[in-house]
Amino acid sequence: MKNKFIAGNWKMNNTAEDTEALLTALIPLVKDTKNRVAVCVPYTDICLARKLLKGTNIELGAQNVHWADYGAFTGEISAEMLAEKGVKCVIIGHSERRGYFGETNQTVNMRLKAALAKGFTPIVCIGESLEQRQNGETEDFLAQQIKEGFEGLTAEQAVRVVVAYEPIWAIGTGVTATKEQAQETIAFARSKFAEAFGKETAERIYFLYGGSMNEKNAKELLGMPDIDGGLIGGASLVAEKFAKIVEAF
Ligand code: 13P
Repeated sequence: MKNKFIAGNWKMNNTAEDTEALLTALIPLVKDTKNRVAVCVPYTDICLARKLLKGTNIELGAQNVHWADYGAFTGEISAEMLAEKGVKCVIIGHSERRGYFGETNQTVNMRLKAALAKGFTPIVCIGESLEQRQNGETEDFLAQQIKEGFEGLTAEQAVRVVVAYEPIWAIGTGVTATKEQAQETIAFARSKFAEAFGKETAERIYFLYGGSMNEKNAKELLGMPDIDGGLIGGASLVAEKFAKIVEAF
C-alpha cells in the first residue's frame, strides 16, 4: 500500500488571524508523519501560509487555477501566479465550483493541463449527486467526468494527477459514504483510468475520498485498498481533528 495523502480544503474559510492560529497549531502535530500532507487555502492566505509552512512537511495548495497564463479574466488566478507564491498542488473541478460557478468537464480539462504544465500536483474532483446515485447513474456519470476531464493526457501526465472522489451527497452533510461504497466507486474510477492509460499507470495514481471524512471515520476509510488518502473540508479547519486524520493510517 502507498503512504496516504491527506489534503485539507479550507474552502472560503480563514482570515489571516485564523490561518496563523491554525497552521501554528497544526505544524507540530503532523511533523513526524510518514504521510503526505497539504492544505489548500484561499488565495488571500497563500502568502502568509507560505511563510508559516516554510521548512515544514506541509505542502501549500490552492483551490483553483485558470488555464491561461495571463489576460482579461477578472477574478481568476494563473498557474504562473500560484507558482511564484510557492504553491505545489491545486484543487480542480470541486463540485462546489461545478455546481455554483458553472465549471464543466471541459474547463476542468483546460485547468488540469495548465496545472500539469506548471508542475503542480492537480487534485481533480469527481463525484455524483444523490439523485444520480439513487437512479443508478453513478458509474456512467463518473465515466463521463473522467473521459472528458482527462481528455488528451498522456500516461506520464495522468500518473501525476490526484483524483478525489467526492460524492456530492456526502460533502458537508455529515453523511459519509460507507467504506464499501467509497471503495467500490473508487475501484470503478480506477478501472476507467486503467482503460485509458493502462493498468500500471492506474495503480500508481492516487485516489482520495472526500465527503464528511473526520477523525472518527478516517481509519476505516483509509484502510480500504483503493483509498489512497482523503480530501478534508470541515475537519481540516480544526488542527487537532485534521492531525488525527493525518495519523489515522
Ligand atoms: P467536508 O469534509 O466538509 O464534507 O468537505 C469535503 C470536501 O468538499 C473537500 O473538498
